[in-house]
Amino acid sequence: MISCTLKTFPGMPAVHCAVLAAFVPLLGSSLALSAQTPTPPMTAPGTRTTYQPVFRFDGYTTTYAFGVNERGELQQIYWGGRIAPKDPLPAPKSNPEHASFDNSYNNTPQEYAGWGAGLFQEPALKVTFADGNRDLVLHYLSSTKPDEQSGIQDIVLKDIQRDVRVILHYWMDPDTGILARWATIENHEPKPIVIEQAAAAAWSLPPAHYTLDYLSGRWAGEWTLNREPIQAGERVLESRRGSTGHQMNPWFAISRNETADPAGEEHGDTWFGALAWSGSWRITVEQDQLDNVRVTGGFNPFDFGYTLKPNEKLETPVFYGGFTQDGKGGASRLLNHFTLARILPTAPNPKPRPVIYNSWEATEFAVTEAGQEALAEKAAALGIDRFVMDDGWFGQRKDDHAGLGDWYVNKDKFPSGLKPLIDKVHSLKMDFGLWVEPEMVNPDSDLYRKHPDWVLNFPGRPRTEQRNQLVLNLARKDVRDYVYGFLDKLLSENQIAFLKWDYNRNWSEPGWDQVPVDEQKRVYVQFTRNLYSILGELRAKHPGVEIESCSGGGGRVDLGILHYTDEVWPSDNTDPLDRLTQQDGFTRAYPNQVMMSWVTDSPHWLNARATSLNYRMLVSMEGALGIGGNLNKWSAQDMATAQRLIREYHLVQKTIAQGSLYRLISPTNGSEFAATEMVAPDRSQAVFFAYVHSTQEGRGFPRLQLLGLDPDTQYAFSSIDGSAAPGTPAQASGAWWMNHGVDVNLRGDFQAAMFRLDKR
Ligand code: GLA
Repeated sequence: MISCTLKTFPGMPAVHCAVLAAFVPLLGSSLALSAQTPTPPMTAPGTRTTYQPVFRFDGYTTTYAFGVNERGELQQIYWGGRIAPKDPLPAPKSNPEHASFDNSYNNTPQEYAGWGAGLFQEPALKVTFADGNRDLVLHYLSSTKPDEQSGIQDIVLKDIQRDVRVILHYWMDPDTGILARWATIENHEPKPIVIEQAAAAAWSLPPAHYTLDYLSGRWAGEWTLNREPIQAGERVLESRRGSTGHQMNPWFAISRNETADPAGEEHGDTWFGALAWSGSWRITVEQDQLDNVRVTGGFNPFDFGYTLKPNEKLETPVFYGGFTQDGKGGASRLLNHFTLARILPTAPNPKPRPVIYNSWEATEFAVTEAGQEALAEKAAALGIDRFVMDDGWFGQRKDDHAGLGDWYVNKDKFPSGLKPLIDKVHSLKMDFGLWVEPEMVNPDSDLYRKHPDWVLNFPGRPRTEQRNQLVLNLARKDVRDYVYGFLDKLLSENQIAFLKWDYNRNWSEPGWDQVPVDEQKRVYVQFTRNLYSILGELRAKHPGVEIESCSGGGGRVDLGILHYTDEVWPSDNTDPLDRLTQQDGFTRAYPNQVMMSWVTDSPHWLNARATSLNYRMLVSMEGALGIGGNLNKWSAQDMATAQRLIREYHLVQKTIAQGSLYRLISPTNGSEFAATEMVAPDRSQAVFFAYVHSTQEGRGFPRLQLLGLDPDTQYAFSSIDGSAAPGTPAQASGAWWMNHGVDVNLRGDFQAAMFRLDKR
């Protein structure tokens, strides 16, 4: 049994110890850590330490090493492919001054550099002391052995004179070599300090030519994969919005791009990282004047100012980083495997998602008991597992002008409460899910009329509304308790299996005037911590309830929220062609398992594009399948098609959701074709999808050479939807499918096919 005093990742409340129980026993085993400790005496100002410990983490195919240089700074030595246990590591030694303009402190790849002593790079930590001094130079003080239960190892840094300490936490996953890094900043000075910038970690790479991948977007246009050379200067990936944001996602991948051997989809050195934080965040990718590359990520320093009183501390989010020699595809497979095994609340064995029906696009706000029951009957006939009622069921909610904050059931729409509908859904052998948007309030609501001071605002200043709503200040304890209270009541009084937890705007005027001025900016940390604590407590009290993170689509998707939620809504854009490129981008950072994908009606409301139901189904079947169309308008033939494909989907769902993903043909850059393949972890099954957007000049579909199979296993081939060329064998070895490959019959506009291979 794991005790609740266990060291956990930041933001994870004690109630989550049960979750960590899954996480802990695997630690330590291959965590070959050679901390040549014990603790040396602290370096006095102006003196040099002769003691230079080296720390090394080996996991899966990766080695990460750092040590204490001759000045006492913690310096990265190596991050890359796994090296032999006895291989020599270079002694940590600061880089020399390059010119009088490029001092050594700046040129040295520090693990966690304070802003001081001539640093021009992004600092990991920047503070102002009570007397106005802003110089912070962090030197190694001590280290712990890896914690027996968690495997986490702490390295303590301290300013050369003042008692500000930073505890750097490290843990490497033996199965993926992904390193978790985060920091705790402690003020042991007699007076407060203000933290103006605090990273979770900084990652360094030596001079080379690199390519940076990152994800950008907008509402209904999330998950655009950007690829650009890393050049002199800084590329800033960030959200200043109080939440993760649609515009950038806290993930990056960097591949080495030497002309002789550029990293590609399936081979080449690739480093990647993801920041587990759902508030304002920032990741900077810098190339300095000597071509060193440094990636620094953590709280967004914009408008940041966290006052630490004497003996207070601040813990940063976790920044995960990994390395592979298997290219960008290999990077996403490692990260996705890690998320399934370590991050999700049900890790390491998350259940494939139930196939859901959601009423939003069918009814929008016009939900009624009779209308929902009629849709539920149709959904059940399709073989749906979970029926979800979306927005519109509560308060005086007729449209988006009113009702948010009033979480009582609307009696005009549901005269006897939710029970009759829930009973009906259960009688149809589905479980029941419900939409909520807990952190928001409409000014036209009883809650706002009673508590106008509960929203983020600066007193006397305008309160900018978006979608006619304001953001409750979840950092406040009374607001946090209210939100927890109504959700706990809702879940206690109704048999609800699932919450779609929405968040439909970003912050504005983020004031918190109920606390002293020097504490008001804590809102950037406390809001998100309280969100996590509500989610954690709800899960502990209602362990059967699953939760989706939605924010007007994919506005809150990150490894922080995924500690507490089972799935995410990637985009309000369900147009299948757009979804193909979105899914390509999304899966770079997050697994298919959590990627909800609804089939909605055609022509699509956003692009006015008409597509067949088969095409829409096969696009959505790449992720966690849902149906979101208006079933009242579906023909008998549509119903039969969906019914058949849902049945087929269930047979291969685990492979799709949790298998290794190979992008055979990327849909990006205007490609005429796309193809993906998912291989079960034990390689006993593979599923592959092919899509043609619009055939031109009579071109046939490129032959698909599969990947990741066992060459010596015999696999039987079958078609789920669509057909392969005549002569495709009914059975052949993995070597045949990978080397010879499959010709797919696919021409026309918006056509799709789906196949499976099963071990014989
Ligand atoms: C957001 C969600 C949608 C739907 C609406 C309801 O936009 O992303 O799926 O739930 O809110 O208002």
